[in-house]
Amino acid sequence: MLQHLHARLVCSSCKGMLVQSEALLQCCNCDAVYTIDDRYVSMLDRREEVVHPSDWKRKEGEIRDYSEISNSFALSGIGRFATFLNYGYVPQGNEQHAVIEPDDVWNRNSVKLLLETVGRTAIRERQVIDIGCGRGGNIAALYKYFKPLSIVGLDICPANIAYCSVKSRGVEAFYLVGDAENIPFADESFDIVLNMESAQAYPNRSRFYEEVYRIMRVGGVFLYTELMLEDQVAKNVRLLEEAGLSVIRNQDVTSNVLLSCDENAKQRTGPQGIANNANASMNNGDISDFIALPGSKKYEEMKAGTQQYRMMNLIKR
Ligand SMILES: C[S@@+](CC[C@H](N)C(=O)[O-])C[C@H]1O[C@@H](n2cnc3c(N)ncnc32)[C@H](O)[C@@H]1O
Repeated sequence: MLQHLHARLVCSSCKGMLVQSEALLQCCNCDAVYTIDDRYVSMLDRREEVVHPSDWKRKEGEIRDYSEISNSFALSGIGRFATFLNYGYVPQGNEQHAVIEPDDVWNRNSVKLLLETVGRTAIRERQVIDIGCGRGGNIAALYKYFKPLSIVGLDICPANIAYCSVKSRGVEAFYLVGDAENIPFADESFDIVLNMESAQAYPNRSRFYEEVYRIMRVGGVFLYTELMLEDQVAKNVRLLEEAGLSVIRNQDVTSNVLLSCDENAKQRTGPQGIANNANASMNNGDISDFIALPGSKKYEEMKAGTQQYRMMNLIKR
């Protein structure tokens, strides 16, 4: 399994060298042990000295929610098509950056969100990691439209990674379970880091930004989207800059995302839709809020401008 990996895997916690013995990876420097099974490698280190128990509780909530969503997709029969877990994007009059018009019928708004985030960034023949890759839709689209040299998908939820590993045969990507705040790759491993609608769940944002900077090569690009509280936008930009990244684009695309939420609502509330099939009580609030259905708290906050959907490109100089 590991032979397909182009980047160097290291200990998530201390970044030490790993040795493999059968189904385990062991750190030569600290006592961390990671597991390999026939579906995926898990690079999560849950030791208290690495992850504070209250942070781990939050992360466990994420794992639970996305496992539940994964189950509900499988039960409703749409699992095979449900490869994205984001709000999507519908173009309108404001500034557009995408240079490709997607030919996808399924998940068109999510593919548009990705293409708009990528804009003119050169991806062909470059090494890419998607952090918080979910069910692999962005990776499949990157592969289809840009032909990178290699792609790694990392997500904290084992159900998502198990799904990607099975679903994405034919896409040359390597998927693993890991934590965005403790990325198990050597310094300067990637040219492009992608992070779509995931960072809002990370308890330690500075730590995540520092990890992104560490694994990027000089000249590399960080493609980043997140729904943020309006009063957190400036703070997050400051933390990104403190981590060493330079902002080259920081766009408010909330109106485009709201249009997509409107379009998605019909399908998501239909008989096979997630709103009817996922457990209503989730760690992140109720399901209608989770998917920002019109009328939900999140949707109304976006409409009122107290939450902003930000699309950013940053570089490591
Ligand atoms: C809203 S989904 C977005 C998925 C994907 N980026 C997309 O656009 O379809 C958020 C994803 O972030 C993952 N996630 C949450 N916390 C994480 C963490 N600490 N490290 C890595 N992934 C995490 C979740 O498991 C979930 O798959």
